[in-house]
Amino acid sequence: MYGVVVKSPRTVLTVVAVCVLLAAMTTLTSYSVTLYRLFCQATGANGTTQRVTTASATQSARDVTVFFDTNVAPGMPWRFVPVQRSVRLHLGQDALVFFEAQNLSGRDITGHATFNVTPDKAGLYFKKIQCFCFTEERLAAGARVQMPVEFFVDPALGTDPSTTDVNEITLSYTFFESKRPAGARNLSRFAAVPPDAAAGGKLFAERCGACHAADRARVGPPLAGVVGRQAGSVAGFPYSAALQAAGFVWDEARLDRWLADPQAEVPGAQMPMRVPEPAARRDLIAYLRILHPGS
Ligand code: HEC
Repeated sequence: MYGVVVKSPRTVLTVVAVCVLLAAMTTLTSYSVTLYRLFCQATGANGTTQRVTTASATQSARDVTVFFDTNVAPGMPWRFVPVQRSVRLHLGQDALVFFEAQNLSGRDITGHATFNVTPDKAGLYFKKIQCFCFTEERLAAGARVQMPVEFFVDPALGTDPSTTDVNEITLSYTFFESKRPAGARNLSRFAAVPPDAAAGGKLFAERCGACHAADRARVGPPLAGVVGRQAGSVAGFPYSAALQAAGFVWDEARLDRWLADPQAEVPGAQMPMRVPEPAARRDLIAYLRILHPGS
């Protein structure tokens, strides 16, 4: 042991402690690399997407139920939910599931998903996933997409003595706002979810119904057929002079700006209501499109 002078038992203890710590860190590091590979082969390093291969997987008669759990970091203005709460599948069976993300803010946002699996020991058997995790993902202001995740649970889960008792696995994702948005992929590559008129109907009841009905005047003018109608033109309704003189026809872009801030769109207008969330405006406008007299 040239060069190492052991001075006292305390020094020995310190050296041992440092070695143990180093060993623990090394193990952890290599473990997370393995997890990284297993989890995100499809969207892995260098931005290349490798297709998922499922051909070699053998199936077992044993079933496992996979639950999905989603979170967003505090202050991240995304809605992020699993489309299905769980799936039940045979070990080795390929599964395709979807997660829906919606940017509730008025600016493009790049997100970054982290994941974990419980119980931890099942993590090693989650295989060949096609996923949005480990890539920076950009979602345009107000956009809503459904993101696929493809995976199977390795049949070895059923033969490894430490995991034979596992019948349920929970896969959790958490989206954080990315610190490195440059080079992010665009989530628009996934199918956009169309505006949801039913959700818009609920919002209408909550936020507009006190003042508006489909075909009769209340505090505000009737709104059935408003898309494509001349602004301020319902006969007999006491519009502000500003809206009456606005001189445009309501289309989706106008309605979007009006709902975001009526006074900014038509200075002098008298609607005391704003809808700051782009996604809510999209759904509301989808509802206005199908709002008929008598509804
Ligand atoms: C507190 C009452 C109130 C609420 C709540 C309200 N509005 Fe209005 N709205 C009005 C008034 C009053 C006007 C007429 C403004 C004017 O004459 O300047 C109006 C006008 C409009 C117009 C223009 C119609 C036309 O004939 O040109 C649209 C479109 C509209 N509102 C949509 C909505 C939607 C959608 C909501 C719900 C998100 C909503 N409003 C919530 C009071 C309200």
